[in-house]
Amino acid sequence: MNLLIIGTGYVGLVTGACFADMGHQVICLDIDADKIAALQQGIVPIYEPGLEEVVKRNISAGRLKFTTDYQMGVQNSKVCFIAVPTPSKEDGSCDLSYVLKAARSIAESMTDSLIIVTKSTVPVGTSQKIRQVVQEYSSLPFEVVANPEFLKEGAAISDCMKPDRIIIGVESPEAAQVMKEIYAAFTINHDRILIMDTASAEMTKYVANAMLAARISFMNEMAGLCEKLGAHIQQVRVGIGSDPRIGYHFLYAGAGYGGSCFPKDIRALQAMARAADYDAPLLQAIDTINERQKKVLAQKIKIYFAQLGGVAKKTIAIWGLAFKPDTDDLREAPALKLIEELLDQGVFVRLYDPVAMSKAQKLLNHPGITWCRDEYHAAEGSDGVALVTEWKQFRFVNLETVSKTMQGKAFFDGRNQYKKDEMKAKGFHYFGIGVPQDR
Ligand SMILES: NC(=O)c1ccc[n+]([C@@H]2O[C@H](COP(=O)([O-])OP(=O)(O)OC[C@H]3O[C@@H](n4cnc5c(N)ncnc54)[C@H](O)[C@@H]3O)[C@@H](O)[C@H]2O)c1
Repeated sequence: MNLLIIGTGYVGLVTGACFADMGHQVICLDIDADKIAALQQGIVPIYEPGLEEVVKRNISAGRLKFTTDYQMGVQNSKVCFIAVPTPSKEDGSCDLSYVLKAARSIAESMTDSLIIVTKSTVPVGTSQKIRQVVQEYSSLPFEVVANPEFLKEGAAISDCMKPDRIIIGVESPEAAQVMKEIYAAFTINHDRILIMDTASAEMTKYVANAMLAARISFMNEMAGLCEKLGAHIQQVRVGIGSDPRIGYHFLYAGAGYGGSCFPKDIRALQAMARAADYDAPLLQAIDTINERQKKVLAQKIKIYFAQLGGVAKKTIAIWGLAFKPDTDDLREAPALKLIEELLDQGVFVRLYDPVAMSKAQKLLNHPGITWCRDEYHAAEGSDGVALVTEWKQFRFVNLETVSKTMQGKAFFDGRNQYKKDEMKAKGFHYFGIGVPQDR
């Protein structure tokens, strides 16, 4: 089928590339002309494992094209997917301006009937708003479908190729049928398509993210309590995860969640509750706990160095800047909060991330920052190491080498990648999250 994907970010580019790989004819459109020029040459502007290969393969096969031209894109497509940003407004509510602008551009370019699908995460009721905008600028028939995306950055290609479920919110059986045809190749093994109304589809995405964020915030709150009471959150995690009603996923205490989705989606859901005059204290708590958790590593560092002349002028190596491993995405990354807090207190920071360095260099500019070649270089001469992103390579570091080149002995493990006893045996002063301190 001829498909147009509007927005070539993490969602749009991955979706477009995967649709093309399944045999569809795909045009990816963006208003960013530089990005489109690069993509036309097979240069992928984001780090996402496997993506460049799929993009190049499908450009060569003639199934994947890139443009900035709405008329060309819309007039050559039967279905248009909108995958543009939906950031937070000042008050936390979702900024729909990008989505509605894309809807208007579609309407102004239409010359035939069309199905317009939202892939962006949008508040309940957005399908109706899109309908109104399109009707304002076109008198041609069209359908609006809500098809939220569940891919995870870092595993986006496999999530897209083998989705757990495909949520499709429709207003007519005809639109449902077209969507089923588009996704047929992704569900050969077993049917994973769930058809529902548009409001429920829109809501499903927010509730999924809120549930996952709630698990993280709950475990972070319990981790803090574990430290106070002398229990170990990792042991508690295994203890509760073995209950099939709970399960092991998403129960890791850490330095807080970040990224482009959880923080903004929790805030948008809160805004939806406010607008509906519905009290939602649990949503507020998820966000509040996370904001507190993002400061936990900085507090541990400050407390540790208080007995060593204070934290000012100390040097801390930071391992990992991206909001999670296997991505270069820094949006709302806990590492950024930590760096800000440390620099504010006069700390020198030595930064390293396996893939997010150039993006970080565009964001951060401070005389207290040293950019490092790798985790060993970052640790050199430092008073302490703070592990913030659990990149696999940080699990298999030669800690003897690290320890020898460090000036101090402190290790702040924001993702509980190491075992306290082993780290102590290697001479480190080790601090995890939810790991009891010696009394
Ligand atoms: N990143 C994720 O992991 C993820 C996962 C699921 C859902 N989502 C949702 O998908 C949506 C897109 O997220 P993303 O991370 O891919 O965003 P992104 O910022 O990476 O990319 C968005 C792209 O849209 C382009 N754009 C903006 N306005 C446009 C317009 N009017 N016409 C054409 N292009 C336009 C931008 O230039 C940019 O390239 C958001 O609603 C997000 O919440 C994201």
